[in-house]
Amino acid sequence: MQFTANTLQHHWMPFTANRAFKKDPRLIVKSEGVYLQDHKGGSILDGSSGLFCTAAGHGRKEIADAVYNQLNVNDYTPPFSMGHPGSFELASKIVAMTPEEINHVFFCNSGSEAIDTALKISMAYHRANGEGQRTRFVSRERAYHGVNIGGVSISGMVKNREAFSGVMPNVVCMRHTWLEENRFTRGQPEHGAELAQDLQRFVDTYGGSTISACIVEPLAGSTGILVPPKGYLERLREICTLNGILLIFDEVICGFGRLGKPFASQAFGVTPDIMTMAKALTNGAQPMGAVAVSDFIHDTIMNAAPEGTVELFHGYTYSGHPAACAAGIATLDIYQRENLFERAAELSDYFLDAVFALQDLELITDIRGYGLIAGFDLKPETVPGASGTALQNKLFWSGLHIKFTGDTGIIAPPLISKRAHIDELCKILRATLEDLNA
Ligand SMILES: Cc1ncc(COP(=O)(O)O)c(C=O)c1O
Repeated sequence: MQFTANTLQHHWMPFTANRAFKKDPRLIVKSEGVYLQDHKGGSILDGSSGLFCTAAGHGRKEIADAVYNQLNVNDYTPPFSMGHPGSFELASKIVAMTPEEINHVFFCNSGSEAIDTALKISMAYHRANGEGQRTRFVSRERAYHGVNIGGVSISGMVKNREAFSGVMPNVVCMRHTWLEENRFTRGQPEHGAELAQDLQRFVDTYGGSTISACIVEPLAGSTGILVPPKGYLERLREICTLNGILLIFDEVICGFGRLGKPFASQAFGVTPDIMTMAKALTNGAQPMGAVAVSDFIHDTIMNAAPEGTVELFHGYTYSGHPAACAAGIATLDIYQRENLFERAAELSDYFLDAVFALQDLELITDIRGYGLIAGFDLKPETVPGASGTALQNKLFWSGLHIKFTGDTGIIAPPLISKRAHIDELCKILRATLEDLNA
């Protein structure tokens, strides 16, 4: 296959420095297990599970076969007022993993759609409950909740918002939980639970009865892994419960074993009212998102509508697509059969030891981590993000893929990784950082 400048021009790539990329493309032509292969034939260790998707590793035949078989039997079913068995089976498998109170699943096609769906379910719930005045959403600085207008409105990352003026009103952001005194903390930091009081301050300022939901990533992912301080999520839960505010956990990165439990909710022992999920739900093999909802929210919305009528005016042409459901079912079967969540929990110490051993490197100013995910900050250059981009490119050609956000690297190896892969990852990272600093 030829890759010429002309053939690269037509695809406007997402979240990419398009002009730089097209001068020096990095194309993946094959992927298997924990490795990718680039278009020049190089082997690259996947240190971020793609984008936190491929927990079971790449090239899983069981998933490919399930999708192929499904498409051969029934390729598409309209999801409105019609169904196919796969979506019901997948929903049952998901609720077997969610906290006890959360038993209803709405399907969509991405994390961003899951977020917008969760916001709409929150609005619909309060209206059905006779509290349509709850129109305000509380989010957090440095949050990433996808790229649709709802998600961008509640996002706390400046670059994702500044070009887009037409966002939703009535959103307020709590402070983020990065604190200087927590630098190089492994696991949950001791300091910062008091930051949850920001939610209380919004209750005191605007009135708790005006707030629809508080939405957080239980462990903030894309911003660079901010592990929740001890007591922080618990306090958010208390304030929400006391004030009738829904608590939404965005589990798009944390879900499906990344933190050693099915969801962050179980890892941190705090149960939200709504959970969003995507990515590892299908091991990245098909686009899919989902929103899992507590019984009381579902039942309130159901009971508010007259029998025989549509209860929630929301849905996508591809909600619960048969191929995505087949991929999801096959994926969750692999997680269970191979005990991958337990395996992640077992590998966590080894992984965190290896990553935190990089803290002697002069270019690294902070490391954070929990389960099988860790973030490290680089000493910034004059232009923010320049160090991260330079390192990401250099790592790629040194045989390692790591996701970067600005000057922060995010390491999240597939849950099937062996200790030797962690060693290889940290060895390449160290050598490349030393080389950059030489
Ligand atoms: C926490 C979180 N929410 C939502 C999203 C958006 O997901 P998607 O890119 O599938 O729309 C992401 C993507 O990284 C995410 O990390």
